[in-house]
Amino acid sequence: MNKITIGVVGAGTMGMGIAQVAAMAGHHVVLTDSNTTGLQKAQTQLQDQLNRLAEKGKISNADAVATFGRFYFSENLNACAECELIIEAVIEDLSVKKSLFETLEKTVSSNCILASNTSSLSVTSLASSCKNPERFIGMHFFNPVPLMPLVEIIPAIQTISSNIQMAKDLVESWGKITVIAKDTPGFIVNRIARPYYSEAIRIFEEGFADFATIDYAMTSVYGFKMGPFALMDFIGNDVNYAVTKSVWEACFYEPRYKPSFTQRNLVAAGWLGKKSGKGYYDYSKEIQVPDTVNTELTKNIAWRILVMLINEAADALYYQIASREDIEIAMCKGVNYPKGLLQWADEIGIKNCIETLDRLFNQYHEERYRCSVALKEMV
Ligand SMILES: NC(=O)c1ccc[n+]([C@@H]2O[C@H](COP(=O)([O-])OP(=O)(O)OC[C@H]3O[C@@H](n4cnc5c(N)ncnc54)[C@H](O)[C@@H]3O)[C@@H](O)[C@H]2O)c1
Repeated sequence: MNKITIGVVGAGTMGMGIAQVAAMAGHHVVLTDSNTTGLQKAQTQLQDQLNRLAEKGKISNADAVATFGRFYFSENLNACAECELIIEAVIEDLSVKKSLFETLEKTVSSNCILASNTSSLSVTSLASSCKNPERFIGMHFFNPVPLMPLVEIIPAIQTISSNIQMAKDLVESWGKITVIAKDTPGFIVNRIARPYYSEAIRIFEEGFADFATIDYAMTSVYGFKMGPFALMDFIGNDVNYAVTKSVWEACFYEPRYKPSFTQRNLVAAGWLGKKSGKGYYDYSKEIQVPDTVNTELTKNIAWRILVMLINEAADALYYQIASREDIEIAMCKGVNYPKGLLQWADEIGIKNCIETLDRLFNQYHEERYRCSVALKEMV
Protein backbone atom coordinates (compact mmCIF):
# COMPACT_ATOMS: atom_id res chain seq x y z
CA MET A 1 0.00 0.00 0.00
CA ASN A 2 1.10 3.55 -0.75
CA LYS A 3 3.09 4.93 2.24
CA ILE A 4 1.17 8.13 2.81
CA THR A 5 2.30 10.66 5.41
CA ILE A 6 0.24 10.40 8.56
CA GLY A 7 -0.41 13.10 11.12
CA VAL A 8 -1.19 12.19 14.73
CA VAL A 9 -2.50 14.96 16.97
CA GLY A 10 -2.12 14.34 20.69
CA ALA A 11 1.04 12.62 21.89
CA GLY A 12 -0.42 10.94 24.98
CA THR A 13 -0.88 7.21 25.57
CA MET A 14 -2.91 6.56 22.42
CA GLY A 15 -1.31 9.08 20.06
CA MET A 16 2.14 7.73 20.85
CA GLY A 17 1.00 4.15 20.24
CA ILE A 18 -0.68 5.00 16.94
CA ALA A 19 2.38 6.99 15.81
CA GLN A 20 4.67 4.06 16.67
CA VAL A 21 2.59 1.52 14.76
CA ALA A 22 2.31 3.79 11.70
CA ALA A 23 6.05 4.56 11.63
CA MET A 24 6.92 0.89 12.07
CA ALA A 25 4.73 0.16 9.04
CA GLY A 26 6.92 2.52 7.00
CA HIS A 27 4.93 5.78 7.08
CA HIS A 28 6.38 9.19 7.76
CA VAL A 29 4.54 10.43 10.84
CA VAL A 30 4.04 13.97 12.05
CA LEU A 31 3.30 13.84 15.79
CA THR A 32 1.96 17.03 17.31
CA ASP A 33 0.82 18.04 20.77
CA SER A 34 -0.04 21.43 22.24
CA ASN A 35 1.95 20.58 25.36
CA THR A 36 5.73 20.98 24.86
CA THR A 37 6.70 18.83 27.82
CA GLY A 38 4.27 16.11 26.75
CA LEU A 39 5.69 16.12 23.25
CA GLN A 40 9.28 15.87 24.50
CA LYS A 41 8.24 12.99 26.77
CA ALA A 42 6.62 11.22 23.80
CA GLN A 43 9.80 11.67 21.75
CA THR A 44 11.92 10.08 24.51
CA GLN A 45 9.43 7.29 25.10
CA LEU A 46 9.20 6.41 21.41
CA GLN A 47 12.98 6.30 21.15
CA ASP A 48 13.16 4.06 24.27
CA GLN A 49 10.41 1.82 22.98
CA LEU A 50 12.16 1.26 19.64
CA ASN A 51 15.49 0.64 21.41
CA ARG A 52 13.80 -1.94 23.64
CA LEU A 53 12.33 -3.74 20.62
CA ALA A 54 15.80 -3.82 19.05
CA GLU A 55 17.41 -5.12 22.28
CA LYS A 56 14.83 -7.89 22.42
CA GLY A 57 15.60 -8.76 18.81
CA LYS A 58 12.05 -7.96 17.61
CA ILE A 59 13.43 -5.46 15.09
CA SER A 60 16.98 -4.80 13.88
CA ASN A 61 19.02 -1.83 15.14
CA ALA A 62 18.90 -0.40 11.61
CA ASP A 63 15.08 -0.67 11.62
CA ALA A 64 14.87 1.07 14.98
CA VAL A 65 17.00 3.95 13.68
CA ALA A 66 15.08 4.14 10.38
CA THR A 67 11.71 4.06 12.17
CA PHE A 68 12.69 6.86 14.54
CA GLY A 69 13.92 8.82 11.54
CA ARG A 70 10.40 8.76 10.09
CA PHE A 71 9.00 10.86 12.97
CA TYR A 72 8.67 14.59 12.86
CA PHE A 73 7.70 16.19 16.18
CA SER A 74 6.06 19.59 16.37
CA GLU A 75 3.84 21.69 18.64
CA ASN A 76 2.49 23.42 15.59
CA LEU A 77 -0.55 22.00 13.81
CA ASN A 78 0.70 23.54 10.55
CA ALA A 79 3.29 20.75 10.49
CA CYS A 80 0.40 18.50 9.41
CA ALA A 81 -0.23 20.51 6.23
CA GLU A 82 1.13 17.84 3.87
CA CYS A 83 -0.45 14.85 5.64
CA GLU A 84 -2.92 12.67 3.75
CA LEU A 85 -4.52 11.25 6.88
CA ILE A 86 -4.67 12.78 10.33
CA ILE A 87 -5.65 10.73 13.37
CA GLU A 88 -6.69 12.82 16.34
CA ALA A 89 -5.99 11.45 19.84
CA VAL A 90 -6.37 14.46 22.13
CA ILE A 91 -8.39 14.50 25.36
CA GLU A 92 -11.95 13.14 25.27
CA ASP A 93 -13.76 16.48 25.10
CA LEU A 94 -16.25 17.25 22.34
CA SER A 95 -15.59 20.99 22.18
CA VAL A 96 -11.78 20.57 22.23
CA LYS A 97 -11.95 18.00 19.43
CA LYS A 98 -14.43 20.02 17.36
CA SER A 99 -12.37 23.17 17.53
CA LEU A 100 -9.24 21.18 16.64
CA PHE A 101 -10.90 19.80 13.49
CA GLU A 102 -12.11 23.28 12.48
CA THR A 103 -8.50 24.49 12.66
CA LEU A 104 -7.08 21.39 10.98
CA GLU A 105 -9.43 21.67 8.05
CA LYS A 106 -8.02 25.11 7.28
CA THR A 107 -4.48 23.69 7.39
CA VAL A 108 -4.68 20.50 5.35
CA SER A 109 -5.44 19.81 1.69
CA SER A 110 -9.02 19.15 0.56
CA ASN A 111 -8.41 15.42 0.12
CA CYS A 112 -6.81 14.80 3.52
CA ILE A 113 -8.85 12.31 5.55
CA LEU A 114 -9.60 13.33 9.12
CA ALA A 115 -10.04 10.63 11.75
CA SER A 116 -10.73 10.54 15.46
CA ASN A 117 -9.71 7.93 18.01
CA THR A 118 -12.59 8.94 20.30
CA SER A 119 -13.88 6.14 22.50
CA SER A 120 -17.23 7.59 23.42
CA LEU A 121 -18.14 10.72 21.45
CA SER A 122 -20.41 10.77 18.43
CA VAL A 123 -18.34 10.51 15.25
CA THR A 124 -21.19 12.14 13.34
CA SER A 125 -21.12 15.09 15.70
CA LEU A 126 -17.34 15.46 15.28
CA ALA A 127 -17.72 15.22 11.49
CA SER A 128 -20.23 18.06 11.60
CA SER A 129 -17.44 20.40 12.77
CA CYS A 130 -15.91 20.06 9.28
CA LYS A 131 -16.93 21.96 6.17
CA ASN A 132 -16.35 18.71 4.33
CA PRO A 133 -17.76 16.04 6.70
CA GLU A 134 -17.50 13.32 4.01
CA ARG A 135 -13.77 13.15 4.73
CA PHE A 136 -14.34 12.29 8.39
CA ILE A 137 -14.15 8.85 10.03
CA GLY A 138 -13.76 7.22 13.45
CA MET A 139 -10.75 4.92 13.98
CA HIS A 140 -10.89 3.45 17.45
CA PHE A 141 -7.63 1.81 18.53
CA PHE A 142 -7.23 -0.17 21.75
CA ASN A 143 -4.67 0.34 24.49
CA PRO A 144 -1.76 -0.53 24.26
CA VAL A 145 -1.91 0.15 20.53
CA PRO A 146 1.23 -1.78 19.50
CA LEU A 147 -0.11 -4.93 21.20
CA MET A 148 -3.89 -4.82 20.73
CA PRO A 149 -4.84 -6.04 17.25
CA LEU A 150 -8.34 -4.53 16.98
CA VAL A 151 -9.36 -1.25 15.35
CA GLU A 152 -13.05 -0.32 15.17
CA ILE A 153 -13.76 1.70 12.03
CA ILE A 154 -16.75 3.98 12.60
CA PRO A 155 -18.15 5.87 9.63
CA ALA A 156 -20.08 9.03 10.48
CA ILE A 157 -23.40 9.19 8.65
CA GLN A 158 -21.69 11.74 6.38
CA THR A 159 -18.56 9.64 5.56
CA ILE A 160 -18.11 8.60 1.91
CA SER A 161 -17.64 4.88 1.36
CA SER A 162 -14.23 5.20 -0.33
CA ASN A 163 -12.83 6.59 2.93
CA ILE A 164 -14.22 3.66 4.91
CA GLN A 165 -12.37 1.27 2.61
CA MET A 166 -9.23 3.38 2.72
CA ALA A 167 -9.15 3.44 6.55
CA LYS A 168 -9.78 -0.31 6.68
CA ASP A 169 -7.10 -1.19 4.11
CA LEU A 170 -4.58 1.12 5.72
CA VAL A 171 -4.74 -0.23 9.27
CA GLU A 172 -4.95 -3.79 7.99
CA SER A 173 -1.66 -3.11 6.18
CA TRP A 174 -0.25 -2.30 9.66
CA GLY A 175 -1.19 -5.82 10.79
CA LYS A 176 -4.39 -4.76 12.57
CA ILE A 177 -7.78 -6.46 12.45
CA THR A 178 -10.68 -4.16 11.60
CA VAL A 179 -14.39 -4.26 12.27
CA ILE A 180 -17.00 -1.78 11.07
CA ALA A 181 -19.25 -0.29 13.75
CA LYS A 182 -22.31 1.92 13.51
CA ASP A 183 -21.85 5.33 15.11
CA THR A 184 -23.65 4.58 18.38
CA PRO A 185 -22.44 5.00 21.98
CA GLY A 186 -19.61 2.62 22.90
CA PHE A 187 -19.43 1.34 19.29
CA ILE A 188 -19.09 -2.47 19.55
CA VAL A 189 -16.67 -3.37 22.35
CA ASN A 190 -17.44 -0.70 24.92
CA ARG A 191 -21.16 -1.31 24.50
CA ILE A 192 -21.26 -5.11 24.59
CA ALA A 193 -18.73 -5.33 27.46
CA ARG A 194 -20.85 -3.17 29.81
CA PRO A 195 -22.58 -6.06 31.62
CA TYR A 196 -19.22 -7.69 32.38
CA TYR A 197 -18.73 -4.86 34.87
CA SER A 198 -22.27 -3.79 35.72
CA GLU A 199 -23.74 -7.24 36.37
CA ALA A 200 -20.69 -8.17 38.47
CA ILE A 201 -21.18 -5.03 40.57
CA ARG A 202 -24.90 -5.75 40.83
CA ILE A 203 -24.21 -9.28 42.13
CA PHE A 204 -21.82 -7.80 44.70
CA GLU A 205 -24.31 -5.08 45.71
CA GLU A 206 -27.00 -7.71 46.26
CA GLY A 207 -24.63 -9.43 48.67
CA PHE A 208 -24.31 -12.72 46.82
CA ALA A 209 -20.50 -12.72 46.76
CA ASP A 210 -17.36 -10.63 47.27
CA PHE A 211 -15.09 -9.30 44.49
CA ALA A 212 -12.63 -12.19 44.66
CA THR A 213 -15.38 -14.80 44.36
CA ILE A 214 -16.98 -13.07 41.36
CA ASP A 215 -13.58 -12.70 39.67
CA TYR A 216 -12.80 -16.33 40.39
CA ALA A 217 -16.14 -17.36 38.88
CA MET A 218 -15.44 -15.66 35.54
CA THR A 219 -11.86 -16.87 35.22
CA SER A 220 -12.38 -20.43 36.44
CA VAL A 221 -15.79 -21.29 34.97
CA TYR A 222 -15.46 -19.64 31.54
CA GLY A 223 -11.75 -18.88 31.14
CA PHE A 224 -11.90 -15.06 30.99
CA LYS A 225 -8.33 -13.78 31.37
CA MET A 226 -9.25 -11.33 34.14
CA GLY A 227 -12.26 -11.16 36.41
CA PRO A 228 -14.45 -8.02 36.21
CA PHE A 229 -13.14 -6.34 39.38
CA ALA A 230 -9.47 -7.01 38.64
CA LEU A 231 -10.10 -5.72 35.12
CA MET A 232 -11.85 -2.54 36.31
CA ASP A 233 -8.93 -1.88 38.67
CA PHE A 234 -6.56 -2.39 35.74
CA ILE A 235 -8.49 -0.07 33.39
CA GLY A 236 -8.88 2.52 36.16
CA ASN A 237 -12.16 2.99 38.00
CA ASP A 238 -12.31 6.64 36.96
CA VAL A 239 -11.99 5.67 33.28
CA ASN A 240 -14.48 2.80 33.56
CA TYR A 241 -16.99 4.95 35.47
CA ALA A 242 -16.66 7.72 32.86
CA VAL A 243 -17.30 5.27 30.00
CA THR A 244 -20.30 3.74 31.82
CA LYS A 245 -21.77 7.17 32.50
CA SER A 246 -21.15 8.37 28.98
CA VAL A 247 -22.73 5.30 27.32
CA TRP A 248 -25.73 5.54 29.70
CA GLU A 249 -26.28 9.26 29.02
CA ALA A 250 -25.65 8.96 25.29
CA CYS A 251 -28.19 6.10 25.11
CA PHE A 252 -30.83 8.47 26.49
CA TYR A 253 -30.49 6.98 29.99
CA GLU A 254 -31.10 3.40 28.93
CA PRO A 255 -31.59 1.55 32.28
CA ARG A 256 -29.33 -1.35 31.20
CA TYR A 257 -26.28 0.91 31.26
CA LYS A 258 -27.03 2.76 34.52
CA PRO A 259 -23.85 3.34 36.57
CA SER A 260 -23.65 2.07 40.15
CA PHE A 261 -23.08 3.75 43.50
CA THR A 262 -20.27 1.28 44.21
CA GLN A 263 -18.38 2.57 41.18
CA ARG A 264 -19.15 6.22 41.94
CA ASN A 265 -17.97 5.92 45.55
CA LEU A 266 -14.69 4.29 44.58
CA VAL A 267 -13.94 7.18 42.24
CA ALA A 268 -14.99 9.73 44.89
CA ALA A 269 -12.62 8.09 47.39
CA GLY A 270 -9.75 8.16 44.88
CA TRP A 271 -9.61 4.37 44.85
CA LEU A 272 -8.90 4.30 41.14
CA GLY A 273 -7.42 0.81 40.95
CA LYS A 274 -3.90 -0.39 40.28
CA LYS A 275 -2.61 3.07 39.39
CA SER A 276 -3.56 4.47 42.82
CA GLY A 277 -2.59 1.33 44.74
CA LYS A 278 -6.15 0.61 45.80
CA GLY A 279 -9.45 -0.01 44.07
CA TYR A 280 -11.69 -3.01 44.50
CA TYR A 281 -8.49 -4.66 45.75
CA ASP A 282 -5.66 -3.39 47.93
CA TYR A 283 -2.45 -3.69 45.89
CA SER A 284 -0.16 -3.31 48.90
CA LYS A 285 -1.24 -6.81 49.97
CA GLU A 286 -0.96 -10.26 48.44
CA ILE A 287 -3.18 -11.16 45.47
CA GLN A 288 -6.63 -11.84 46.85
CA VAL A 289 -8.34 -15.17 46.24
CA PRO A 290 -11.72 -16.27 47.59
CA ASP A 291 -11.64 -17.66 51.13
CA THR A 292 -13.80 -20.63 50.25
CA VAL A 293 -15.14 -21.80 46.93
CA ASN A 294 -18.77 -22.76 46.58
CA THR A 295 -18.98 -24.45 43.20
CA GLU A 296 -22.72 -23.96 42.80
CA LEU A 297 -22.48 -20.25 43.64
CA THR A 298 -19.55 -19.58 41.27
CA LYS A 299 -21.36 -21.39 38.45
CA ASN A 300 -24.53 -19.32 39.00
CA ILE A 301 -22.59 -16.05 39.12
CA ALA A 302 -20.61 -16.81 35.97
CA TRP A 303 -23.74 -17.91 34.11
CA ARG A 304 -25.69 -14.76 35.05
CA ILE A 305 -22.89 -12.48 33.80
CA LEU A 306 -22.34 -14.50 30.63
CA VAL A 307 -26.06 -14.47 29.78
CA MET A 308 -26.13 -10.69 30.18
CA LEU A 309 -23.16 -10.38 27.82
CA ILE A 310 -24.84 -12.65 25.29
CA ASN A 311 -28.03 -10.58 25.51
CA GLU A 312 -26.04 -7.39 24.84
CA ALA A 313 -24.29 -8.96 21.83
CA ALA A 314 -27.62 -10.18 20.47
CA ASP A 315 -29.12 -6.71 20.88
CA ALA A 316 -26.16 -5.12 19.07
CA LEU A 317 -26.79 -7.56 16.22
CA TYR A 318 -30.53 -6.81 16.25
CA TYR A 319 -29.91 -3.05 15.99
CA GLN A 320 -27.27 -3.60 13.28
CA ILE A 321 -24.45 -2.01 15.25
CA ALA A 322 -22.19 -4.45 13.37
CA SER A 323 -22.33 -7.73 11.49
CA ARG A 324 -22.41 -10.99 13.43
CA GLU A 325 -18.86 -11.75 12.36
CA ASP A 326 -17.56 -8.34 13.42
CA ILE A 327 -19.31 -8.56 16.81
CA GLU A 328 -17.56 -11.86 17.45
CA ILE A 329 -14.14 -10.63 16.27
CA ALA A 330 -14.43 -7.38 18.24
CA MET A 331 -15.00 -9.08 21.60
CA CYS A 332 -12.24 -11.65 21.07
CA LYS A 333 -9.64 -9.21 19.72
CA GLY A 334 -10.60 -5.99 21.56
CA VAL A 335 -11.08 -7.41 25.08
CA ASN A 336 -9.65 -10.93 24.74
CA TYR A 337 -12.89 -12.81 25.41
CA PRO A 338 -12.24 -16.55 25.17
CA LYS A 339 -15.00 -17.03 22.58
CA GLY A 340 -17.43 -15.04 20.45
CA LEU A 341 -20.59 -14.41 22.51
CA LEU A 342 -23.03 -15.42 19.77
CA GLN A 343 -21.18 -18.67 19.12
CA TRP A 344 -21.24 -19.22 22.88
CA ALA A 345 -25.01 -18.72 22.89
CA ASP A 346 -25.38 -21.37 20.20
CA GLU A 347 -23.21 -23.80 22.12
CA ILE A 348 -24.94 -23.45 25.49
CA GLY A 349 -28.37 -23.15 23.96
CA ILE A 350 -30.24 -19.96 23.16
CA LYS A 351 -33.31 -21.38 24.90
CA ASN A 352 -31.31 -21.58 28.16
CA CYS A 353 -30.25 -17.96 27.79
CA ILE A 354 -33.84 -16.82 27.22
CA GLU A 355 -35.11 -18.80 30.20
CA THR A 356 -32.54 -17.20 32.50
CA LEU A 357 -33.21 -13.69 31.21
CA ASP A 358 -36.98 -14.13 31.52
CA ARG A 359 -36.54 -15.51 35.03
CA LEU A 360 -34.44 -12.48 36.04
CA PHE A 361 -36.94 -10.14 34.40
CA ASN A 362 -39.85 -11.74 36.24
CA GLN A 363 -37.94 -11.60 39.49
CA TYR A 364 -36.79 -7.95 39.30
CA HIS A 365 -39.23 -6.35 36.83
CA GLU A 366 -36.34 -4.23 35.61
CA GLU A 367 -35.61 -3.22 32.03
CA ARG A 368 -31.98 -4.33 32.34
CA TYR A 369 -33.13 -7.96 32.20
CA ARG A 370 -35.33 -7.70 29.12
CA CYS A 371 -34.45 -10.37 26.63
CA SER A 372 -33.28 -9.21 23.21
CA VAL A 373 -35.73 -9.76 20.38
CA ALA A 374 -32.77 -11.19 18.45
CA LEU A 375 -32.46 -14.12 20.89
CA LYS A 376 -36.20 -14.82 20.66
CA GLU A 377 -35.97 -14.75 16.87
CA MET A 378 -32.90 -17.01 16.84
CA VAL A 379 -34.66 -19.69 18.83
N1 LIG B 1 -6.42 5.49 26.97
C1 LIG B 1 -7.18 4.55 26.42
O1 LIG B 1 -7.22 3.41 26.88
C2 LIG B 1 -7.96 4.86 25.18
C3 LIG B 1 -8.40 3.81 24.35
C4 LIG B 1 -9.08 4.11 23.16
C5 LIG B 1 -9.34 5.44 22.84
N2 LIG B 1 -8.92 6.45 23.69
C6 LIG B 1 -9.20 7.82 23.27
O2 LIG B 1 -8.00 8.38 22.74
C7 LIG B 1 -7.95 9.79 23.02
C8 LIG B 1 -6.67 10.12 23.75
O3 LIG B 1 -6.62 9.38 24.95
P1 LIG B 1 -5.25 9.19 25.76
O4 LIG B 1 -5.52 8.16 26.80
O5 LIG B 1 -4.13 9.01 24.82
O6 LIG B 1 -5.14 10.63 26.46
P2 LIG B 1 -3.85 11.33 27.09
O7 LIG B 1 -4.36 12.22 28.15
O8 LIG B 1 -2.81 10.32 27.43
O9 LIG B 1 -3.27 12.22 25.88
C9 LIG B 1 -3.94 13.31 25.33
C10 LIG B 1 -2.90 14.26 24.74
O10 LIG B 1 -3.57 15.25 23.98
C11 LIG B 1 -2.89 16.48 24.18
N3 LIG B 1 -3.81 17.58 23.84
C12 LIG B 1 -4.89 17.98 24.54
N4 LIG B 1 -5.52 18.96 23.86
C13 LIG B 1 -4.82 19.16 22.71
C14 LIG B 1 -5.00 20.02 21.59
N5 LIG B 1 -6.02 20.87 21.52
N6 LIG B 1 -4.11 19.93 20.58
C15 LIG B 1 -3.07 19.07 20.63
N7 LIG B 1 -2.87 18.23 21.67
C16 LIG B 1 -3.73 18.27 22.70
C17 LIG B 1 -2.44 16.45 25.62
O11 LIG B 1 -1.37 17.35 25.86
C18 LIG B 1 -2.05 14.98 25.78
O12 LIG B 1 -0.69 14.78 25.50
C19 LIG B 1 -9.24 10.11 23.77
O13 LIG B 1 -10.21 10.53 22.87
C20 LIG B 1 -9.61 8.77 24.39
O14 LIG B 1 -10.99 8.66 24.66
C21 LIG B 1 -8.23 6.20 24.82
